[in-house]
Amino acid sequence: MNEMVQKVRASFLEKFGREPVLISSPGRINLIGEHTDYNEGFVLPGATDRAIILAIAPREDDVCRFHAFDFNQDFSTTFDCLQKSDLHWPDYLQGVLAVFLQAGYRIRGLDLVFGGNIPIGGGMSSSAAIEGGLAFALNYLYDLQLDGLTLARLARQAENDFVGVKCGIMDMFANLFGQAKKVIKLDCRSLEFDYYPFEWEEVRVVISDSLVRRALATSEYNLRRQQCEVGVNLLKKYYPEIKNLRDVTLARLVAHQTELDPVVFKRCVYVIKENQRVEQACQDLLRQDLFSFGQRMYESHLGLRNEYEVSCRELDLLVESAARVEGVYGSRMMGAGFGGCTISLVRSEAVGSFTEKVSADYRQASGQEPAIHVVRIEAGTHVIQ
Ligand code: GLA
Repeated sequence: MNEMVQKVRASFLEKFGREPVLISSPGRINLIGEHTDYNEGFVLPGATDRAIILAIAPREDDVCRFHAFDFNQDFSTTFDCLQKSDLHWPDYLQGVLAVFLQAGYRIRGLDLVFGGNIPIGGGMSSSAAIEGGLAFALNYLYDLQLDGLTLARLARQAENDFVGVKCGIMDMFANLFGQAKKVIKLDCRSLEFDYYPFEWEEVRVVISDSLVRRALATSEYNLRRQQCEVGVNLLKKYYPEIKNLRDVTLARLVAHQTELDPVVFKRCVYVIKENQRVEQACQDLLRQDLFSFGQRMYESHLGLRNEYEVSCRELDLLVESAARVEGVYGSRMMGAGFGGCTISLVRSEAVGSFTEKVSADYRQASGQEPAIHVVRIEAGTHVIQ
């Protein structure tokens, strides 16, 4: 049992005086395919060795007692009082309980401690790790016999309806379906998926956390969704078969450019191109052509910066600095944007110089030290035996 698991378990024993079930629920990376999931496009995520550990035990009543180990904060409620809290973190847990109850699943209250090492709010989806972890735990504790897809959908609904972020399904899907040494190409429309081997001794996945966290991420995120919908609604008038940006070709979009708000046009261009990049990147993986794969990561970043406008100075700095290091295949911002992390593919022997140079550049330009993590691609949410 690793140190983090032991700490969370010890905290649970101390608070609640009984033995919990222990669940490991990972944060995710996404190699490419950003802001495509809610446009019914393609993504290429995987679960990581950065995880949240949930220690949990069921109760006979409807009382829920939560302890956030890393913040040393407590929260308790009952099923008929589930509502948003100023502490924020309880909302991810309460949201999951609310959607399970609404769907009519027979659950009871619980005692729960969670803690972990996913950078919070950093683009590795610590929120989906809490939501996916609790959905998995409820299914396990109450033997609800729900499949992974149902759990992913419920976890997403918690985020959409209770927390209020209109996110897609990528994060929860990666959290629940991740496998070691594999990334998942997910079609966010049909929810069909394929695993692609992602294991090279000579390559590392490096996460550079800008440590920037911006409150506007939620409102800007939801605004991007709306802008995509505006684009789709206009095109639908001409091509009724179009349901989503997934169905729009660049040629059709360009043909109606003058009727679209220039900002909406840019957003749509990005999504259409990003979907194409995911398809091509998967081909690169099959050919083991990491050089081309890396180039698509850079292109993805440029699109996110110039067309989708969800990057920020700090993320651009990290990517530009990474691009100057020898042995880096590609780099891009990851997740929703407006701060958080970049993801870079780095040759193993270059990780040291990457860390040194990127940290130095970032320090010089922003006055802050980035947090750099080398992550492994690991299994999705599971019970720790
Ligand atoms: C956040 C959301 C995801 C996805 C990404 C951007 O992580 O939760 O659903 O939209 O942003 O790709």
